[in-house]
Amino acid sequence: MRALVAIVPVALVAFLGAAFLPAQQDSSKPASSKQDKGEKLAPYFPTPETIVDQMLKLGELKAGETMFDLGSGDGRIVIDAARKYKAKAIGVELDDSLYKQSMERIKSLGLSNTAYIIHGDLLKQDYSSADLLTVYLLPVATEMVTPILERQLRRGARIVAHDFQFAAWKPERTVDIDDDGEGRAHELYLYRR
Ligand SMILES: C[S@@+](CC[C@H](N)C(=O)[O-])C[C@H]1O[C@@H](n2cnc3c(N)ncnc32)[C@H](O)[C@@H]1O
Repeated sequence: MRALVAIVPVALVAFLGAAFLPAQQDSSKPASSKQDKGEKLAPYFPTPETIVDQMLKLGELKAGETMFDLGSGDGRIVIDAARKYKAKAIGVELDDSLYKQSMERIKSLGLSNTAYIIHGDLLKQDYSSADLLTVYLLPVATEMVTPILERQLRRGARIVAHDFQFAAWKPERTVDIDDDGEGRAHELYLYRR
């Protein structure tokens, strides 16, 4: 099982890397209703629901706190944070259809007062109000976001990273999950500013 733990992140990097294609910007088109288009920093690869809960627990999320998911996909982490943890939960998502899908789910669950998705680039947001950030991005993206978070995050803010570490920071805790129920291993890292 340990061997699997070692192999899976490598395989995942290869998968994510192969699937990763930077978004092409077309300057001839007018800007849509969303914020300025950014660069796609990771493909969509959702965190399994069982791992979502472990991420929020590791991040010590409390009722009333503000959390952001950087690259929020279908909104599952944001939705759990608002629904189960009663947090103010904000996602940032570049992809048009994932943005729409997650906003529709938030609305249908009656969570619009506490959950929201910003349709934009995760590199261009203000995270200074965050108590917790969750991050599931490729290493190149965590490297790009590091100086932004170092500038913006207040003292004591927590960051939970899934599978890919922040190379510049030392984690306060590392959690190895051998099997998520579907035979996949995961690593979670907790950082505190
Ligand atoms: C690996 S998925 C993680 C999704 C979700 N956080 C989860 O754990 O289930 C990465 C997500 O980041 C989004 N993404 C990539 N580059 C982005 C950018 N520059 N700004 C906002 N979102 C971005 C992708 O569209 C994708 O949904």
